[in-house]
Order: sequence, then structure tokens, then C-alpha cells
Amino acid sequence: MAVFDVAVWRAGKVRMLDQRALPLQEIYLEYGSAQEVAEAIRAMVVRGAPAIGCAAAFGVAVEAFRLAAQGMPASWEEALAPGMAALRESRPTAVNLVWALQRMSRLLQGLEADRVPERLLCEAEAIRQEDIESCREMGRLGADYLLVRGGQRPLTLLTHCNAGALATAGYGTALGVIRAAVDRFTQVRVYASETRPYLQGARLTAWELLRDGIETTLITDGMAGHLMQSRGVDAVVVGADRVAANGDAANKIGTYSLSVLAARHGIPFLVVCPLSTIDLATPTGAGIPIEERAAEEVTHYAGQRTAAMGVQVFNPAFDVTPAELITALVTEEGVVEGPDAAKIAGLFARRG
Ligand code: MRU
Repeated sequence: MAVFDVAVWRAGKVRMLDQRALPLQEIYLEYGSAQEVAEAIRAMVVRGAPAIGCAAAFGVAVEAFRLAAQGMPASWEEALAPGMAALRESRPTAVNLVWALQRMSRLLQGLEADRVPERLLCEAEAIRQEDIESCREMGRLGADYLLVRGGQRPLTLLTHCNAGALATAGYGTALGVIRAAVDRFTQVRVYASETRPYLQGARLTAWELLRDGIETTLITDGMAGHLMQSRGVDAVVVGADRVAANGDAANKIGTYSLSVLAARHGIPFLVVCPLSTIDLATPTGAGIPIEERAAEEVTHYAGQRTAAMGVQVFNPAFDVTPAELITALVTEEGVVEGPDAAKIAGLFARRG
């Protein structure tokens, strides 16, 4: 399997594969402060909910080492607060970011001052490692679910955006299910939707899957309905940026449309995400903040203006799929069909 340094610790810096340059160039960048990491997240050097969480955790660790090099602060909470705030504000929708920062903050309580940088780094490494393990487990559970539900057959899947190794610490959520399915089905064929306007499907998912030798066909977002009608799709498999306590799932813009199309065609719709993406503090999808991004992403293509001058633009980066349109939620703690508040609470209870 292709392995990338999506967000890792290397020689006292946070190293990231610059996803803006993919698929044409593989460029690695290094960051030495929380402010720099926050800017990298904002600028989409690293993206995808679990990957953003990992990057933020390493951002806190690198900030602690930077501060310690200037002399041990009187209060670590106060010293780290501006960096933590910059990271928290870098992108609003993916809850893994807040989750990782809360985990790093909790660790600070009751820690000996001179051990803080090392301990924060260990915690960031743990977050990264746990994410890889969760992805492997989700992959296994999701592929088993598809097998049990539909039996052994050539499998055709449709995925949206990039919920792969590039969007996590490794292996991927939705693409983890696809990777695991390759070992279980006689043939796996993937349709990747382009994912307007930032093209995560065309640039990242297609690149990542082809590197693993997985048969991948690119479609534009508007072709999904025709694909379902004319060629057939066995399941739609996507990731999530934040799942509310009732199972409503925010993911890349266009996911909701796919869920409606899938329901129309009787196609199972799977959302694959770790528990760190589930926000029990947000009761329903209506409470999930939706990031709006620059108009140029819509009016321009590869730096060239394509839209009529003066046109207004609405550019939400995410949408919310209601729980009732989700056939199954795949997490590292198990698969729940028809997710709702009670079933989701049960997943957390399993973890203890
Ligand atoms: O704007 P992005 O590229 O960060 O959006 C990413 C997605 O919407 C992914 O589907 C989601 O984060 C799941 S990643 C495992």
C-alpha cells in the first residue's frame, strides 16, 4: 500500500506532503510553530478530517518545543493558548481538529513543566498511530459488511472527495474499506467523482487508488445519477468531517446529493469515520458549522477565470446528509445500520 507522510514528526519539525501540488508534484514542507501549522491547514497543504486532527496535534507539540527553546514558560496553558487558538480557527467543520486539541489540552493538566514538550509529542504520535489502527479496523469491518450484505461478486463502488490515506494518518476511511474490499471480492472497480470545486477526487483519490493498482474511473459530479442508472453501483462509500449525535453526517459538498441519488436507486450509502469524527455535543446536523470558501475556487479553473465577470458565488465546502439517508455508519467500534442517537451512543459505550 502507498504510504505518505501526510503529517508526521521529522527532526523537530512537522513534515507534510503538500497536497495542493498533487498529483503533478510530490513536495514535502516543514513547519516549526503552531501558527505555521495552522496556516498549512487553512491553506489545504493537509486536509481531510483525521489528517487535520493529526496535524493540529503535532502543531501543539512543535509549539511546545519552540517555546521551551526560549526558556521554560511559567504557565504552559497560557503560553500555548495563542497557538492552540490559531489551530482551532484554521478550519471550522472537521471536528477531529477540536477533538485533537482537547486531547492535547487535557494532557497538560498535572504534568511536570519540563516534561510537557516530550509528553505532547508522545500524545501526537499516539493520535497518529491510533488513527492508522482505526482506519484498518474500519476497512475490515466495512468490507465484511459489503460481503455479508451482497455476497461475493465483482464490486462496483462510488466514492466522493478523498477519504483515503491522504486524508488520514494512513490507509483511509472510505478508501480503507475499498482497500480491504480488494482482498475479499473477485474484482473491485471504483468510480471517483471529481469533487468540484477543489477536485480532491480527480487529483487525490484517483492518484492514491491508481498507485495501489485499484481500477479507478473518474466522473464529474453531475454524472453520478446517470452512472447509477446506466452502469449500476453496488454501494456509495464516503468519509465524514463531523457526524452529529443523531447520525447526520457533514462531508464534502456533493455528498448529500449522492445520498439522495443512492436512495432513489436503492443503493446502500455507507459513511465511514472514526469515533473522533463523531461530535456528541452537536445534537443534529443543523448545528454543524459549514465552511464557506473563496469565490475564486468556483469562478476560476487552474488560475484562469471561467465564470462570467460579476456573477455572485456560493461556495460551501461541505453539506449534511441526514441520518435517514445513511444505510450504515462504519466506525472502528462497529457498523451500525440506520444510525440514530441511541446506536451512536452505543458505539461509545462499547469503547468504555
Ligand atoms: O476540504 P477537505 O478536502 O478537507 O474535505 C475532506 C472531506 O470532505 C473528506 O471526505 C473527509 O474529511 C473525510 S476524510 C477521511
